[in-house]
Amino acid sequence: MILDWKTLPRPIAALSPMADMTDSAFCRAVRAVTSHGSGGSAVGPQTARNASEHWRGETALTGPDRVIVFREMVSSEAVVRGNDKTLGMTEIHPDERPLVQQIFGSDPHTMSEAARIIEAEDHPEGFDINMGCPVYKIVHNFNGAALMKEPKLASDIVKKMKAAISVPLSVKIRLGWSEKTDCVEFAKVLEDAGANLLTVHGRTKCQGYAGAADWEMIGRVKAAVSIPVLCNGDIHQAEKVLPALEQSHCDGVLIARGALGNPWIFSQIEEVLSGKPRTIIRLEERVRMVRLHLALHCEQYGPRGVVTFRKHLSWYFKGLPGAKKFRDRLHTTSTMEDLHLILNEMLTCHSEEPKATKNLSEDPSLALRMTEKISCASAS
Ligand SMILES: Cc1cc2nc3c(=O)[nH]c(=O)nc-3n(C[C@H](O)[C@H](O)[C@H](O)COP(=O)(O)O)c2cc1C
Repeated sequence: MILDWKTLPRPIAALSPMADMTDSAFCRAVRAVTSHGSGGSAVGPQTARNASEHWRGETALTGPDRVIVFREMVSSEAVVRGNDKTLGMTEIHPDERPLVQQIFGSDPHTMSEAARIIEAEDHPEGFDINMGCPVYKIVHNFNGAALMKEPKLASDIVKKMKAAISVPLSVKIRLGWSEKTDCVEFAKVLEDAGANLLTVHGRTKCQGYAGAADWEMIGRVKAAVSIPVLCNGDIHQAEKVLPALEQSHCDGVLIARGALGNPWIFSQIEEVLSGKPRTIIRLEERVRMVRLHLALHCEQYGPRGVVTFRKHLSWYFKGLPGAKKFRDRLHTTSTMEDLHLILNEMLTCHSEEPKATKNLSEDPSLALRMTEKISCASAS
């Protein structure tokens, strides 16, 4: 597929890059449920009632290709150095496409060289530059959000990368370093340099992940440029897409934490946009998904994947009634067999004691509480 941000059906929905999370296995898991529907059972009536007339009836998301996945960031320096682990992170399984690979760095030559190497080797449908990461180990090297304070350098990076690649280039920014308004002029600089798309996280670097994302401020970026803009931040349930689009007037949305433990969110967005009742994901479907994601994860990382998969288990089961008593075992088991046994037990207990479900997709504050626990060291 040739990715053209200008002609993709609106609204665009994309999976946001998340370090240690949106790896190949996770992108495949998202794609698996996006292609086959949400797989749960419909309950209603509900948010369709609130759907804006503008977006109602849209079926833009139908079909597996309509969701664009952004892979977690990789270091341009590590790619150019030929670091095996980093190069392994850029490999793409055919099921994941269309896929955008995100890169971070601050040297225009290294960034363009890294993009050239990845394009020749892995052929992603697009590249994205991380100009929003707030964590110290990234910004202290003028990477990530630090580039928002260096518009000339940021522009040089975009120009040099554009010259090195044949696919679209996007840039992910925040509202600013400390001032929310910084993004407007910065966005124009990036557009002039040749960026094909901007994705804007509606918080400043200083806000980190705290406070509400300002979708109206993202709208000021949208109004200032003629390239497409995606709205990001706080879209943790499918229903939030409607106010986010109404307030930002963006071309689409970029979903981050809302997809953790809920890869069905893209099908749910489709339901909301087309005025259908949104599907609630039952425990049986959740467990089926966990088993699939676990298998994909271990295919990527080998047997130690059972241990590194724990971060995803937290998101899949957090807040589900009855899951608490399994938590310690879920988080200490290190064999695939034991994990499957615990999942079986969860299903048995659930069928004996059916209870109302409460999970991330139904509890907005839960996603935020969980994020506080995410190690800042890996997030951006
Ligand atoms: C665990 C984690 C890892 C992240 N890693 C990246 C990353 O590699 N690149 C990036 O541009 N943003 C990264 N982000 C930021 C998200 O893409 C997104 O901009 C942010 O979480 C706001 O969206 P949300 O409120 O929907 O979660 C990360 C966020 C989290 C929670």
